[in-house]
Amino acid sequence: MTKSILLTAVAALAMAPQMAAAADPAAIARGKYLVAIAGCNDCHTPGYFLGKPDMTRFLAGSEVGFEIPGLGVFHGPNLTPDKATGLGGWTDAQVVAALQKGERPDGRMLAPIMPWHAFATLTKQDVDAIVAYLRSLPPVANKVPGPFGPTEAPTSFVMKIVPPPAK
Ligand code: HEC
Repeated sequence: MTKSILLTAVAALAMAPQMAAAADPAAIARGKYLVAIAGCNDCHTPGYFLGKPDMTRFLAGSEVGFEIPGLGVFHGPNLTPDKATGLGGWTDAQVVAALQKGERPDGRMLAPIMPWHAFATLTKQDVDAIVAYLRSLPPVANKVPGPFGPTEAPTSFVMKIVPPPAK
């Protein structure tokens, strides 16, 4: 009994710094600024590529996927804290690994259209600020389609590289 109370207290203490960081208004403001200039909105907000970004579902996942020749079709997923369809079930470290190493928690590497190589150069403070900002968004339930393999038929819009007409 005493032991479990103690463990709970230790767990609460261990979580405290993370929660404080997530709620830090300065970090959230910095994250918002970085997200605005890093173009996350373009690829991760519904409607953006259709010319009508749905700002009520900001960063909740795009219905337009990118076709990468030989790899398949990839839609920018939901980055809001929704547990089932967004990043709500991911730890901060898992979001950072996706952003800076292209690694998803299930081990799949993100398609190279997600510019994680560029984000790999962010300072720890800046990447933490981006995570704090994503955590502050209202959760929106929206599961993006895919990913689709190179031989699979995509079920939603696709942006693709079109070769020039044969001469
Ligand atoms: C040029 C388009 C593009 C930009 C810009 C972009 N992303 Fe992405 N992102 C994607 C695509 C497409 C995927 C999915 C790739 C895949 O499934 O292999 C993705 C995946 C992710 C993932 C993994 C989510 C998951 O469920 O697998 C995270 C986290 C993420 N992006 C965050 C961001 C953040 C934060 C920014 C801005 C700092 C950003 N992205 C900018 C296109 C983009």
